[in-house]
Amino acid sequence: MSSLSAPSVRRLDPVLVDRIAAGEVVERPASAVKELVENAIDAGARAIEVTVEAGGRRLIRVVDDGRGMTPDDLDLAVERHATSKLPGGDLTAIDTLGFRGEALPSIGAVSRLAIVTRTPEAEAGASLTVDAGMKGQVRPAPAQRGTRIEVTELFAATPARLKFLKSDRAENAAIAETLRRLAATQPGIRFTLRADAGQPLVLPAETGAEAELRRLAAVLGQDFLANALPVSLAREGFAVAGHVGLPTYHRGAATHIHLAVNGRPVRDRLLLGAIRGAYADTLASDRHPVLGLAVACDSGLVDVNVHPAKTEVRFREPGLVRALIVSAIHDALRRGGARSATTGAGPRRRAPVARRPPGRRSRRDRRSRRGGGR
Ligand SMILES: Nc1ncnc2c1ncn2[C@@H]1O[C@H](COP(=O)(O)OP(=O)(O)OP(=O)(O)O)[C@@H](O)[C@H]1O
Ligand SMILES: [Mg+2]
Repeated sequence: MSSLSAPSVRRLDPVLVDRIAAGEVVERPASAVKELVENAIDAGARAIEVTVEAGGRRLIRVVDDGRGMTPDDLDLAVERHATSKLPGGDLTAIDTLGFRGEALPSIGAVSRLAIVTRTPEAEAGASLTVDAGMKGQVRPAPAQRGTRIEVTELFAATPARLKFLKSDRAENAAIAETLRRLAATQPGIRFTLRADAGQPLVLPAETGAEAELRRLAAVLGQDFLANALPVSLAREGFAVAGHVGLPTYHRGAATHIHLAVNGRPVRDRLLLGAIRGAYADTLASDRHPVLGLAVACDSGLVDVNVHPAKTEVRFREPGLVRALIVSAIHDALRRGGARSATTGAGPRRRAPVARRPPGRRSRRDRRSRRGGGR
């Protein structure tokens, strides 16, 4: 009898709720880095320093010089569904990277999270720790202006997740990739990454006319500068801008495609498909272009609330966006072709990059890339 009776429905313990939700937000150390760096960007930081040890397992530290938090805000910030970023509660008017109010409580549920923060007006800072979901007390603490967050003992309370982590090297590579993707969209912010004994990644703040291009080159490789064409096109409320690589400058994987929608790095199928379509006539099907493109539109024309990691978006007018991207890339490539054919005395000698057969360049390119460690 009793084995047939249904188990009664009961509410989950809040600590368990957070741990379950954390599984979606914090998949590996790189996802924690993404959330913390996004928070620093949203806080208006001009410099963001990330330090990780043992691939993020032992330590993730993110220090920013942003607006910081008052003690009361700090107290609330680690609670679930607490955010300062949706003032009107309007999900169609999102202009920050965060808006779910879930990242800090999720990280705190699966690690030991220690925060020290100070607003510019305050004389002293405030500190708070959350240990595997158990929240401590906000206390006064000496602090620089901005916020310093340390995550230790990541996944200690969720051993299954810990077991699925890859080598330190692989986790560090994922962290560096996450940081590069965010940095590509924020040329004005200085980023530093120190990961174990590896060479630090330093991306100085870029200003001036070519700031975006210079940051893209810092992220994609300096030879992008000589192989990039500017892109800019707007139509019916959507605009696309950035730089695309010449068809002769390509990679064996789609790793050098950087896309952003309203300042948010995304890996969106629609956009990737549009790019593939735009290069279909000029690139072999197993090769991928190198580019950085930013789509901008009214926030009501795109839904970013598709997935907890916010890397997918849904456009109100997908066909329009696709066509815009294809036209923008085609325009740029056409202008690029004309440029190499008309500049200088001898077009053939002046345009070696555009005219070299793709196969030959790609093999050499791949070898030199490997040698360069990227
Ligand atoms: N580095 C920071 N500097 C200043 N305020 C911060 C910082 N990190 C977090 N906060 C504050 O804490 C709140 C909660 O952060 P949390 O990342 O959990 O949520 P969110 O960013 O609002 O949304 P999401 O879950 O989508 O990231 C933020 O809304 C912000 O007010
Ligand atoms: Mg956030």
